[in-house]
Amino acid sequence: MATVHPDPDPTALVRDPVALARRLAAVSPEAAARPADVRVVHAPGRVNLIGEHTDYNEGFVLPVAIDLGIAIAVLPTDDGIVRLTLAETAETGEFEPAAVGARQGGWIDYVAGIAWAMAEAGLAPRGFRGVLASDLPQGAGLSSSAALEVVSAWALSGGDRPAVDPMRLVHLVQRGENGYIGLNNGIMDQFASIFGEAGRALLLDCRTLDHRSISMADDDLALVACHSGSPRRLESSAYNERRSQCEAAVAVIAQTVPGVTSLRDVTPAMLEAARPRMDAIVAARAEHVIVENERVLAAIAAFEAGDLATVGRLFYESHASMRDLFGISSPELDALVEIAGTTPGVIGARLTGAGFGGCTINLVRRDAVDEFRAVVLRDYPARTGLVPRVFAVEASAGAGRLI
Ligand code: GLA
Repeated sequence: MATVHPDPDPTALVRDPVALARRLAAVSPEAAARPADVRVVHAPGRVNLIGEHTDYNEGFVLPVAIDLGIAIAVLPTDDGIVRLTLAETAETGEFEPAAVGARQGGWIDYVAGIAWAMAEAGLAPRGFRGVLASDLPQGAGLSSSAALEVVSAWALSGGDRPAVDPMRLVHLVQRGENGYIGLNNGIMDQFASIFGEAGRALLLDCRTLDHRSISMADDDLALVACHSGSPRRLESSAYNERRSQCEAAVAVIAQTVPGVTSLRDVTPAMLEAARPRMDAIVAARAEHVIVENERVLAAIAAFEAGDLATVGRLFYESHASMRDLFGISSPELDALVEIAGTTPGVIGARLTGAGFGGCTINLVRRDAVDEFRAVVLRDYPARTGLVPRVFAVEASAGAGRLI
């Protein structure tokens, strides 16, 4: 194989498919020999506007695919081998997609997990040579795992749209993460990365799988993600524990209310009736999920009525609920939300994604973004000793082939 050097600016490559294809030709003699067969595929990350830890409780979510993501230049091969190089570090991972073995313990596992899930579903994952570039920060709660998995599904399909219905693909990708990686996550991140639409947020009912997009094309409104500068400490164990606590609440309520199979079926009155028989932490977790579902629907109505003051209030209430009831915030995320709450032009702020570190999402009037960025960069380090990162993001299209 040719000598591989780290690329000087890997984040620029993700936006330049022709250059990424050339990069593959530079590291793979096979790609250099067959340049016309090289494709470039891309999948975005996401922010979730509201509806956190509701997806695996059959509730509602409102994510947005963003203009940060992961691209792979792919040369499909028939040798049954995946060999994928990171543009950023020149590290190369390798596996056989038809015979995926045990996890290797790194980023390549997310690619292998999709090959494993595709094989299980009877889709033959193909070999390829690839180079991967990303401008999506890892461990930031912006779904770099889902973006890597979704773009891998395309790469393992020869660089074409995987030959399954898109909602089935959502579940296949989730299966890869649940069954191979071992994180029992819901379907929100994969759904957003596959179904994203420019200028629109995506309402998904995780029980019926009904979904529709909501216009975000208010020229005055910007989405700003603020990274706390502390890595997301997403122990799969803490996430999986939240999920088990939600299931424990359902089990207690179902003892007296027949037909309850998930927190989606539980009203606030049912929870209050069961609370004396329930562990206090379990009840708090359930309360978050039940009211968070109501907040998603209220936020949709407020967005559609142009009532941004109500949207903002719901954002702050959601954050407080994740902090006080669901136990997934951190002092750093709380500081970011507090700073946002006192900055003019910020409509609402809350942590986004799984929690335990990562990012907040802020709805900000476009003309106030520069000032907001300056305030965060000034006040947050003074309060926490950490350096934040501020990303203005745009609602963007879902996964696809660039060339
Ligand atoms: C992670 C999971 C999602 C969802 C969120 C919390 O991003 O992957 O399925 O549960 O956390 O809303």
